[in-house]
Amino acid sequence: MSRLIVVSNRVSVPKARGAAGAQGGLAVALGSALRERRGIWFGWSGEETPHFTGDLDMQRNQGVTTATIDLEHQDVEEYYNGYANRTLWPLFHYRIDLAEFERDFGKGYERVNQRFADSLYPLLESDDVIWVHDYHLLPLGERLRARGAKNRIGFFLHIPWPPTRLFVSLPYHDRLVRSMLSYDLVGFQTEEAVESFLHYCARELGADVDDAGTVRFEGRTTRVRSFPIGLDYDEFCEAGNSGEARNAQQRVLSSSRGRKVMIGVDRLDYSKGLPERFDSISRFFDAYPERVAETLYIQIAPPSRQDVSSYQRIREVLEGKAGQINGARSEVDMVPIRYVNRGYPRNALFGFYRAARIGLVTPLRDGMNLVAKEYIAAQHPEDPGVLILSRFAGAADQLGEALLVNPHSAEEVSEAIRVAQDMPLDERKERWQALRETVSSQNVVNWRRDFVNALAGD
Ligand code: ADP
Ligand code: G6P
Repeated sequence: MSRLIVVSNRVSVPKARGAAGAQGGLAVALGSALRERRGIWFGWSGEETPHFTGDLDMQRNQGVTTATIDLEHQDVEEYYNGYANRTLWPLFHYRIDLAEFERDFGKGYERVNQRFADSLYPLLESDDVIWVHDYHLLPLGERLRARGAKNRIGFFLHIPWPPTRLFVSLPYHDRLVRSMLSYDLVGFQTEEAVESFLHYCARELGADVDDAGTVRFEGRTTRVRSFPIGLDYDEFCEAGNSGEARNAQQRVLSSSRGRKVMIGVDRLDYSKGLPERFDSISRFFDAYPERVAETLYIQIAPPSRQDVSSYQRIREVLEGKAGQINGARSEVDMVPIRYVNRGYPRNALFGFYRAARIGLVTPLRDGMNLVAKEYIAAQHPEDPGVLILSRFAGAADQLGEALLVNPHSAEEVSEAIRVAQDMPLDERKERWQALRETVSSQNVVNWRRDFVNALAGD
């Protein structure tokens, strides 16, 4: 069996089972694939160096070999904070109003992709299978090919792919997509993203695109398919057996004193629809004032990408909204919203999800959204809670038995909260059983197996 080389901006070493880690599930899933195939996980160390050397830091941890490089401050500014998170992330999440088109960002992005290729190439063996992840590294395959790599190379995009009309507002958009056609396989989260990408290839590049999703362009062939990412279901359920999960659940239940708990768990990111969600909750309290005292909303939102101004702004906006809602509605012994800016270990998250009768997952746009799947996995079979899910999350394609909402409509979300609070046990169980079946069967292990099999052909 050929070796698997995984490449991503961040490299996350699988930790001991149940330990904290923002990329926990993915690290575990890719970790087992890497162990099976004696593979290497390559990427940025997260550290800065005064002068780029390309020196590799190789480590072996839990049976997985990682190889990381340090980047210069200018690289991090132009590639990570710049092109990846000020240009591509907002544009791909349909926020062209937030997208910044700076020449230096584009140059930094190309430079770092070249640096990745230059450092990775000497590690490669001729039959290695290479799997590149996410929007930071769209042109990496092309850079590896230019160095001479003849390996099978696949790419998976974890975030949405925008419609052609939106995507063409990116300067040099054609260069970016042409570079992606160096991959043998390109994977997206949803069919919608696949269709948008194929539409672009046919219409803007004049590529030959067939019904099976094969793109032929300038002598190369690229297969394009959707591979919706799943949860590491078994690992996450095991988290529920921990004392930490039980304590977390108990902590919420005892401090909420019989109020109906709703929960949101999101990186503090404008794509997650948090201001709109807070407005919807405010509207719910306006519409049903008698329910204020019997409802508690817990929002866990760890800060993210704090060097980017749009992320600093969303933080200020939310602090304002949480303050206003609580200021207007609190009693001396009761606040309707608990707004917490920190991360928690996965075991504790499991307990929080289980304590909540409603999970609110209302991004304005999201590639998939794993929180929705975690909320389902954490529910008690005899008394499951209700998932309120944005129709604009990739997860909505799979989780049709959730209460699907338009997150822009405060009225619709407010009404969904009322319906969820009043939902009879039989209906909650019926919906949840169907959702659990999907989340457990379409899990992350099957996801990576499908992708790697499609790429490696074994
Ligand atoms: P994104 O990848 O855009 O952040 P997802 O919902 O797909 O969105 O994945 C987020 C992951 O980060 C989930 O596994 C979730 O449990 C984890 N996460 C989010 N907020 C926290 C938090 N406060 N503490 C720990 N993990 C968190
Ligand atoms: C999303 C992206 C990932 C990214 C993660 C955390 O899930 O798809 O590529 O790693 O957010 O963001 P960060 O910028 O902290 O790596």
